[in-house]
Amino acid sequence: MKTLLINIGELVTVNANGADYKAGKDMSDIGVIPNGAVLFDDTILWVGTTDYAEQKIIPEYDDLTIVHCKGKCVLPGFVDSHSHIVFAGNRATEFARRLAGVSYQTIANEGGGILSTMRAVRSASVENLAEIGKSLALSALAHGTTTMEVKSGYGLSLSAELNQLEAIRILQHQLPMNIVPTFLGAHDFPPEFAQNRDEYVDVVINEMIPEVAKRNLAVFCDVFTDTGYYTIEQSRRILNAGKEFGLIPKIHADELSSFSAGELAGDIGAISADHLLYVSDQGMQSMKSAGTVATLLPGTAYTLRLPYAPARKMIDNDMIVALATDCNPGSCFTENMQTILSLACSSMKMSIEEAITSSTLNGAKALGLSEKIGSIEVGKQADMIMLDSSNYADLVYHFGVNHISHVWIKGKMVI
Ligand code: NIG
Ligand code: FE
Repeated sequence: MKTLLINIGELVTVNANGADYKAGKDMSDIGVIPNGAVLFDDTILWVGTTDYAEQKIIPEYDDLTIVHCKGKCVLPGFVDSHSHIVFAGNRATEFARRLAGVSYQTIANEGGGILSTMRAVRSASVENLAEIGKSLALSALAHGTTTMEVKSGYGLSLSAELNQLEAIRILQHQLPMNIVPTFLGAHDFPPEFAQNRDEYVDVVINEMIPEVAKRNLAVFCDVFTDTGYYTIEQSRRILNAGKEFGLIPKIHADELSSFSAGELAGDIGAISADHLLYVSDQGMQSMKSAGTVATLLPGTAYTLRLPYAPARKMIDNDMIVALATDCNPGSCFTENMQTILSLACSSMKMSIEEAITSSTLNGAKALGLSEKIGSIEVGKQADMIMLDSSNYADLVYHFGVNHISHVWIKGKMVI
C-alpha cells in the first residue's frame, strides 16, 4: 500500500544527497521543497513537488492513499539519540532543593541523585520499568520523536541492569518507534563498591558487558566520565572491553567539569560524546579528527543552571553536532524534542535550520543509523512528522506548545 502526501507547504527533507551527516555551513541547508509531495510505502519512494505528483505520480497508480496536507509543514521525525526514560521513582524534591541553590553534586554526595533512582529501580519489576518507559516514549512520540535511544544505568548491579535492558526490549516490541538500547552500567558507583570503585569496574567489565552482549541487549556502551564519577582510565578500560564484545562506545563527557573526556572520546573512536558543557579545545579537536558526534543536551544545562555547550564554536569548526533530550529524572526531565530545539536556538545561538539538522540527520548519525533514517530521501525509512503549521520556523518561534499533528513511522500513520 502506497501513500502520497501532497500540498505540503514546506517539505523539509534535510536532504544530504546520500551523505550520512551534515557539518558546518551545510547544516543550514535543510532542503526545503515548497508545495512538496512524498510517495512512500514503508520506505520513501519519491520526493518532489505537488505539481509533478499531480501530473506524473497520481495517474501512474490506482491504489494510492492520497493525503492532502493543506499547506502544512512536513519534516523527518526527530531522532532523540540520548535518553534515560526507563527508570522508577521521582526526584521532584531534589529538583526543588536545586532551585533553592543546592548543587547536583551536593545532592549526589548525600546519597541522592543517580543512587536515589537506583534504589527505586532495584525494587521495581521489569514490567513496572517498561510501563514507565512506555508512557514517556509515547509522550515523546506525540511530540514528534520517531527514534529514541534509551540507556540503562540505574540498576548498577548485573541483575538490575539486565532488568532495565529487558524493559527497554519490551519497549522495542510494544512501540511503533525505533528504540535503540545502550548499556550504561558505569553511570555511578553503587554503595556496595563505594570503598572500592575499581572492583565495580571489574564487575562491569567481567560480568555485565559479556552478559549484556550475550543476550544482545545493547548496541552501545556508555560511561559517565567526570569528576566524582568514572576516571579517564576506568572509562577507557570499560569502553575498550565493550568494544571487544561489539558494543560501540559513547561517553557522558565533560558535563560537570573539564575532565578531558572529549579527548578520550576521539582517542577511543566513540560514536558520540554527549553533554560537553566543559569540553576543551583539544577535546573538540580530538573528536573532530575521529568523526565523533558532539551530542548536545541543552535541557540539562537549563535544568542544572550550568553554562551551555559551545555549539557555535563546534559548528563553525565543522564538527558533527546533534541535539537530544537526555530525558531523565534528575538533570533534565523532558521528553519533548521541540523544547530542545528552542533551547538550542535561544541559548546556544544555533539557527533554526542547524537545530533541525542536529535533531534529525545528525541524531541518526550519533546512533549509526543515518543510512536508514534522519532525512526524507528515497530509500530511507518513511519516518515523518507533520506540523499543525505551515512554517518549520514555528517549531522554535512559537515555543512551549506541541506542533505535531501527524506522525508516520515506517510509512504507517501512528499519530
Ligand atoms: O545525563 N550525567 C549523568 N547522567 C544523567 C543524569 C542522571 C541523573 O541525575 O539521574 C545525565 O545528565
Ligand atoms: Fe544522560
